[in-house]
Amino acid sequence: MTTMESLIGLVNRIQRACTVLGDHGGGEGSALPTLWEALPSVAVVGGQSSGKSSVLESIVGRDFLPRGSGIVTRRPLVLQLHKTEEGQAEYAEFLHLPKRRYTDFAAVRKEIQDETDRLTGKTKQISPVPIHLSIYSPNVVNLTLIDLPGLTKVAVEGQPDSIVQDIENMVRSYVEKPNCIILAISPANQDIATSDAIKIAREVDPTGERTFGVLTKLDLMDKGTNALDVLEGRAYRLQHPWVGIVNRSQADINKNADMISARRKEKEYFSSSSDYGHLASKMGSEYLAKLLSRHLENVIRSRIPSITSLINKTIDELESEMDQLGRPIALDAGAQLYSILELCRAFDRIFKEHLDGGRPGGDR
Ligand code: GDP
Ligand code: NA
Ligand code: MG
Repeated sequence: MTTMESLIGLVNRIQRACTVLGDHGGGEGSALPTLWEALPSVAVVGGQSSGKSSVLESIVGRDFLPRGSGIVTRRPLVLQLHKTEEGQAEYAEFLHLPKRRYTDFAAVRKEIQDETDRLTGKTKQISPVPIHLSIYSPNVVNLTLIDLPGLTKVAVEGQPDSIVQDIENMVRSYVEKPNCIILAISPANQDIATSDAIKIAREVDPTGERTFGVLTKLDLMDKGTNALDVLEGRAYRLQHPWVGIVNRSQADINKNADMISARRKEKEYFSSSSDYGHLASKMGSEYLAKLLSRHLENVIRSRIPSITSLINKTIDELESEMDQLGRPIALDAGAQLYSILELCRAFDRIFKEHLDGGRPGGDR
């Protein structure tokens, strides 16, 4: 792994340890919450059934999310991808089931559904309480991704009238944080002027510096029309280039079409398209994943000075907290504090070695 990969990996693990620590995470004035805010994450936002969960799955390169028409995602899913060394077996782990390692990703999907139902019942109701899932794999980039319920316009049968506003508030609570990178998903078969994703992104990120526009369902546009106005940035300009995507259709999902053939079909779609052929190398899920991880690297690199100073502050704080630790603190919380401390020390060490290597600007 490169130094940058190691540092981002540590950032990811510190984020996870802070999450596990939850409410024990330091009191008023503690550096821990500030440290969490300094670390970037990526949230997927858009209207219901715009393709959010499908895009997220393609970035991970694995089938494990409940998808479909109607309201499927009913709790936020905080998904942490941890890149492991080549040759290691891939597995997933839920925060609420710490002792169980999942190697069967269909079982992961089932557990997301069951864990959603545990809080909301088998209803169309939503809950703001996130589900935390970590995936450990040599084939992922170190990244924290958040899947959110879709924005809607009206309550349907079985939902309280407040649901439209409740979902919007929940989504806003994630995307308004300055450390949040927004993946704004809009379906190409609807007018971009009606996009819920762009509406909320524009509100919380008016300059567009942390918004990535993603256009799904290009394959479902009316014959004779195309999305070049959007993809080439004329319809709605963002600082980052728009990325067009072709996810699996519901028919593909029903036929259990796998991820690899879906990606191949998506590539073929762009390379053989008379409309999009000239953009083919900058379209598709794989390109989006690369674009995001490159952006994340840049963000982390630019924040390294503030992250390291926060980390040093956290180390000092945790050390004195550990010193004072008598019995009162729960054993688990003590162990978590200790592991955050270890991770922070590792970050600091790798960062210093990196500087000593004489390449302070990065390793590319
Ligand atoms: P979410 O509600 O925004 O998370 O959307 P999902 O990912 O669950 O997708 C909703 C439905 O749209 C599913 O049936 C998907 O198969 C379908 N879908 C999503 N993206 C595309 C796409 O690019 N092309 C086609 N044909 N169908 C898509
Ligand atoms: Na849906
Ligand atoms: Mg979804």
